[in-house]
Amino acid sequence: MHNLGVLLSGRGSNFLAIADALSSGTIPDTQIAVVISNLADAPGLTAARNRGLNATAIEARGRKRAEHDAEIITTLQAHKVDLVCLAGYMRLLSPGFIQAFPQRILNIHPSLLPAFLGLDAQTQAFEYGVQIAGCTVHFVDEQLDHGPIILQRAIPVLPTDDAHTLAARILEQEHIAYSEAIARVLSGNYEVLGRRYVPKTGDD
Ligand code: GAR
Repeated sequence: MHNLGVLLSGRGSNFLAIADALSSGTIPDTQIAVVISNLADAPGLTAARNRGLNATAIEARGRKRAEHDAEIITTLQAHKVDLVCLAGYMRLLSPGFIQAFPQRILNIHPSLLPAFLGLDAQTQAFEYGVQIAGCTVHFVDEQLDHGPIILQRAIPVLPTDDAHTLAARILEQEHIAYSEAIARVLSGNYEVLGRRYVPKTGDD
């Protein structure tokens, strides 16, 4: 059985999509062991509790990043987490966090990386005038929105779109992409060559 740890800061729709994928068997032999938020009032934390999951707030306010991260690492390890999923977790991770879970931390970002890093990526993309937008699930490394890409999903920007409708349609794709990426990583049926995620063919 694989144990996921989900980190979130907000409404938690990606977390809920992952939880639904687990319930429906899309991601086999896997459970959410713990949900952690840096914000005690994150709606995603309430949603996790409503589903009967272990859910805990570890607040960052007034603490050094490394010290805050160390408490999160301890909590993840206590729940025997083998894959960490950032789902709208709006904090950078310290190097110690990355090293504690090498190539075992995933993030979802609402753009086709490497375009539009950081906050409000959907609005950045809309205002830039891109005609293709989308989302990316990637391994987390020490740089913002940067590690090797596991999966991307693209959608056209429609002439009728505004930043909100575009973000909503990207979010639909996020909800599909994240579970698919988790299943890919947990299958172990891939290697990372430089920055490239390469599925194994099954011939070897
Ligand atoms: C999602 O759109 C996610 O891609 C984005 O925050 C939103 C969280 O929504 N993450 C980032 O921008 C990370 N750089 P959710 O709480 O409903 O999953």
